[in-house]
Formats: sequence, structure tokens, C-alpha cells
Amino acid sequence: MRKNIVAGNWKMNTTLPEGQQLAKDVCQAVAEQDNLKCDVVLGVPFTHLCAVKAIIGDKLHLAAQNCADHDHGAYTGEVSAPMVASTGADYVILGHSERRGYYNETIETLRTKVDLALAAGLNVIFCCGESLEQRRAGTHFDIIRDEIVGSLFHLTPEQFTHIVIAYEPIWAIGTGETATAEQAQEIHAFIRQLLTSQYGNTLADDTTILYGGSCKPSNAAELFALPDIDGGLIGGASLKAADFLGIITAF
Ligand code: 13P
Repeated sequence: MRKNIVAGNWKMNTTLPEGQQLAKDVCQAVAEQDNLKCDVVLGVPFTHLCAVKAIIGDKLHLAAQNCADHDHGAYTGEVSAPMVASTGADYVILGHSERRGYYNETIETLRTKVDLALAAGLNVIFCCGESLEQRRAGTHFDIIRDEIVGSLFHLTPEQFTHIVIAYEPIWAIGTGETATAEQAQEIHAFIRQLLTSQYGNTLADDTTILYGGSCKPSNAAELFALPDIDGGLIGGASLKAADFLGIITAF
């Protein structure tokens, strides 16, 4: 059976002391739950990885929010997948629409990053999603198919077991506007069907597919109750331990 996951994406928020405090608060809040129904991942800035790992140990999972498209070498300012893995992080978030949009990450770049992340032993939370214009034009299924097929479908089935997919409609990110339960379920079912066509039923059934975009304690339970939604990738609400806990306990 596939895992439920709630992953926080802190984005470019918190200084190191603020991030350490947030990690402590989340860790403590999670420790007080005795019937946790999901894995919890903290997606923190590069600068915080080691310090947050020292706080959370093996109680929570740790993610970087990006990695370089090269393994090592003269790429000033970049951080490689092996560097991320060496901090104790076990996940990396790749393909977020903010990276695609602001930093020109293409399907091909992401394919390379996925390969490097897997080679370094990381699990990948791979984001996909359409803009409002694309949804209005009715091309959202094509966009999502192209993103997934182009960056992931060269993987072997064994490699694919290390992939988590996050559907994040761009129009729902940080806007307060959540996809309706029907809209989210429709896309998640489409993604699972796509995985079935490439990798078969078992692997598709075992793949965790997260929803992201203005997910909060008040709407998480409705979303997580849907058959193809296995948790969330949480931006704003992951920056407050109480809100994040409200989502973690929504299953
Ligand atoms: P918000 O939860 O702030 O809408 O952000 C979602 C997101 O982009 C997570 O990666």
C-alpha cells in the first residue's frame, strides 16, 4: 500500500534560528500524536538542512527544495544532489512551478535533476501542475502529461518507487484558492491512470500522489479523503506548527 505523506515546503522563508524553532515545534507536536497516519517531511532551505536534521533525527523526514543539474564541479552557488544527501536529507522537491517559472527549469533539466537525485539515494517529490490560462484553455491534462512523461517516464520501475508526485495547480499556490475536491481528484486519477499505462497497476497503486495549493487545516480532511489524494505539499500553512499539525492530523 502507498504511503500517506504531508510535506512542508518552507520555500525561501525563515532565518536559521527561526527554522530551528519551527522544526522543534513541529517535531514536538508530531511526537505528541500517538496515531499518526502519515509520514511528515520538512522541505527546508539548503542552509537549514544540517541543523534541522540534528533536531528531527529520524522522527521526521527532511527534504531540500532543489538540487543542481550537475553532480559536482565548477558551478558556483549550486548545491548538488550528493551534497543534499550528505546532510541526512532523504528527499528533494523538484519541478516546483516557482523553479520552472522563475528559474527556467525545463522538462529536460528536470529529467537530469531527477536522475542525479535518485543516483544520490534521494527520494524525489516531483511537482507538476497547470496555470490558470492553461486550465481555461482546457490544456491542463496535456501539460501534466508532458511534465510527467518528459521528466520521469525514462525511469525503471525500481527507480520509480522513489518518486512521489505532487499535483500543484499554479492558480491555487499561495492564492487562498484551493482546487475543488472534484478538480483535484480528477487530476490525481488522471495521473494514476498515466502511471498505470507506463508501469502497470501495482506500481501506480503504490505511488503517493500529493495535492498542493492553499491546503490548510480547514480543507485538508476533505481533500485527503479522496481516493487518489495521498496527502499534501504545503506552503504557507507549513510555516506555523499548529496549522501544519492540523493538516498532518487531517487523515
Ligand atoms: P501554498 O500552500 O502556500 O499555497 O503553497 C503550495 C506550494 O507551492 C507547496 O509547494
